Amino acid sequence: MQREELLSQLRQYGLENDVPNITDTNARFLRDLIRIQGTKRMLEIGTANGFSAIQFGIELEKTGGKLFTIEFSPNSYEQAVHNIWAAGLENTIHPILGNALDEIPELTWFFDFVFIDGMKRRSRDFLELVWDKVPQWWMIIIDDVIKFREKMVGLDEYLKKNTISYNVLPIDPDDGVMMMVK
Ligand SMILES: C[S@@+](CC[C@H](N)C(=O)[O-])C[C@H]1O[C@@H](n2cnc3c(N)ncnc32)[C@H](O)[C@@H]1O
Repeated sequence: MQREELLSQLRQYGLENDVPNITDTNARFLRDLIRIQGTKRMLEIGTANGFSAIQFGIELEKTGGKLFTIEFSPNSYEQAVHNIWAAGLENTIHPILGNALDEIPELTWFFDFVFIDGMKRRSRDFLELVWDKVPQWWMIIIDDVIKFREKMVGLDEYLKKNTISYNVLPIDPDDGVMMMVK
């Protein structure tokens, strides 16, 4: 199946089944960042059924990059594995089944791009866990920081305490991303 056709089927499935996949505008923005950056090793927290992972994987295949993506729901993980194979991106995307809070410390690599899209109240913890795995000049993005900012307990305090500078970009009409370049 063509990848664009698969993505449009996944979009439809997500709408019908309340899967909180990234929007098309956000996908375009994140894909462009991967292209501009020439991302080689990317980490995603929160795979769901693999919609965003496939979007990223399409660009990473061109840059020769790899995506590691973590999901703790076995059902979503199984769907993601199936969809990644359907997209023919199994050599580019490496899904990990487990709780990101446990899995991130086990990852021994550095990442040039981290996309945080897991449980919103854990966004601060995810950020803290990935911080030392992202070298200077590279990038971390947290999704949904406008709509769900109040759920992101302790995030503002963490940013302030560690004097982390960031931009909030209103990518969608009702939401946006927080971008940190180290
Ligand atoms: C917003 S959805 C991800 C959507 C996906 N990035 C996309 O756009 O297609 C969040 C996902 O993160 C998973 N998740 C939440 N907390 C997690 C954690 N601590 N470890 C691993 N997965 C987690 C949820 O099960 C859910 O599938």
